[in-house]
Amino acid sequence: MVRALLPLGAALLGAAAVLAADIPTCSLTKKCPKEAPCCSLRRRRLLLGGCDPRMSFSLDSCVPAPVCKDKVYKMDSLDRYQDIGEYLGDPSKADWVGQGEPLLYDGHVLLTMPPKSVGTVLATTTYMWYGSVKAKMKTSRGRGVVTAFILFSDVKDEIDYEFVGVDLHTAQTNYYFQGIPNYDNSGNITISSDSYNDFHEYEIQWTPDEIKWLVDGKVGRTKKRSETWNATSNQWAFPQTPSRVQLSIWPGGLESNAQGTIDWAGGKIDWNDDEIKNYGYFFATFGEITVECYKTDKAPGTNKGVSYYYNDIAATNNTVVDSDKPTVLKSFLATGTDMDKGDGTTSGGATASSSVNAIPGGGSTPPNQVPGGSNPNSGSSSSGNGGSGDSGSSAGTAAPCAATGFSQSCGTNGAAGGTKGNNGARGVERTLGASAFAVIVGIAGLLLI
Ligand SMILES: *[C@@H]1O[C@H](CO)[C@@H](O)[C@H](O)[C@H]1NC(C)=O
Ligand SMILES: *[C@@H]1O[C@H](CO)[C@@H](O)[C@H](O)[C@H]1NC(C)=O
Ligand SMILES: *[C@@H]1O[C@H](CO)[C@@H](O)[C@H](O)[C@H]1NC(C)=O
Repeated sequence: MVRALLPLGAALLGAAAVLAADIPTCSLTKKCPKEAPCCSLRRRRLLLGGCDPRMSFSLDSCVPAPVCKDKVYKMDSLDRYQDIGEYLGDPSKADWVGQGEPLLYDGHVLLTMPPKSVGTVLATTTYMWYGSVKAKMKTSRGRGVVTAFILFSDVKDEIDYEFVGVDLHTAQTNYYFQGIPNYDNSGNITISSDSYNDFHEYEIQWTPDEIKWLVDGKVGRTKKRSETWNATSNQWAFPQTPSRVQLSIWPGGLESNAQGTIDWAGGKIDWNDDEIKNYGYFFATFGEITVECYKTDKAPGTNKGVSYYYNDIAATNNTVVDSDKPTVLKSFLATGTDMDKGDGTTSGGATASSSVNAIPGGGSTPPNQVPGGSNPNSGSSSSGNGGSGDSGSSAGTAAPCAATGFSQSCGTNGAAGGTKGNNGARGVERTLGASAFAVIVGIAGLLLI
C-alpha cells in the first residue's frame, strides 16, 4: 500500500528543536503580553489546540470560531484539506486543517506516523456546540501507537475516543472539562471485532445534559451532566463549549514520554514494527465522518450566526455567543484584533517570515514535544497519567504565547524573525512548518518505493 516517508520524523524533530527556544508562556494566572496576545495550548499529545481566550491577552485576542454546519465528510479525497500553516480561517475553503502526513489510499484517508515522527492530526474547520458526530474508521496497531477521535474546544473541554494499539478490542472513552486532569473519567467499550482490520462506526452524541458514546449504533457509555458537579469550583465539570472534531495518530509510547503515558499506550513504540517494515509507517484509516449540529432555538447550542466567541473568562456554556463576527483573516499578518492587516499575499511558505501565525484553528503542539514532554517549555512533561495520555497540561499550566515554528501559539511577535503575528488566531500555527514540510516532501519524494 503506501510508501515510506522515512525522513519525516528526523526533519521535524530537528526543526522543532531549534525553534523551541524561548517561547513565552501563558496560563490562567499569566496571560499573554499584548505583542503576542494569543495563548495556544501545550499538551502531551498531538492535537490542534486553538487560541484559549482565558489565557490570552484579552478575550478578543482569539479569532471567533466558525459555527457548526451539518456535514458528511466522505474522506475520499484530500482536496478539502489544508495544512494548518496555510489556513486563514475561512471554512468555505477547507473542511479540515492539520499537520503531519495524511494520505489517500483506496478511497480513504490514512493518518500516518512514519518512524520517529509524532504522527498526524486533522481538525474540522467548523466547531460543534453540542450535536452528534460519527466516524467510520479503522485504528492503527502496535505497541505505544494511539489513535484518537475526539471533540476538543479552545478552552480544552474534550470528549474522546482513544485506542491503544495493543488492544484492538477496546474503545477507551473519556472527557475533560477545561483541561482539568481527572483520571477517573475514563470508561471502556468492548468492540465486537478487531478495530484494526474492521471498520466500525464510533459516535459521540453530546447534549447539554449528557454524552453518549455509541459503537456500531449501540450505546456503550452514557455520562450525565448531573453526575459531574464540582462543589469546589461550583460548576458542572462537563464539556460545554464549541469544539472541533479532531482525528489523530500519535506516539503514546515515545521514549521521552512520561512512564504512565508509555504504560497506558502499551509500552514503548517499536519503530521496526511490521507496520513500518511493510508500509513505512503506522496508520489509522478514516472513512465517512458525519457531523449533525445540535438542533435548538436558544442557547446553549445554537448555530444561527457565523461564529462563536466567549464574552467571559469563565468559558462556560452561558458565556458562548453565537454571533455574526467574521472568522477570516486577510493575511498571515493579521490578528484577532486587527483581522485586516496585510494583503494576503504572504502565505506560509518557505521562509520564517512568511509564516503564518495568525491562523484560526491552529495552535497545535509542536511535534517534538507532543507526547513527549521533552520540551523544556512544556509545563506538563512529567505527568504520567494513565488516562488519555494527554491531560498533563491542563488548566493553568504554561503554554506558549509566541509563535515559533511548530509551536504555535498565538500571538505574535511581529519582531521576531518575521513571524508575524499570530495574534489573532485561535491558534496560530507553525511557521517554519511549511518549509520544513516542503523539504521533507522533497526528500520523501526521492525515496518513494
Ligand atoms: C480499559 O482497558 C484498558 C486495556 O485496554 C485497561 O488498561 C484500562 O484499565 C481499562 N479502563 C477501565 C476504566 O476499565
Ligand atoms: C449550560 O447551560 C444550561 C442552560 O443555560 C445550564 O442549565 C447548564 O447548567 C449549563 N452548563 C452545562 C455544563 O451544561
Ligand atoms: C474541582 O475543581 C477544582 C478547581 O477547579 C479542581 O482543582 C479539582 O480538580 C476539581 N475536581 C474534580 C474532581 O474535577
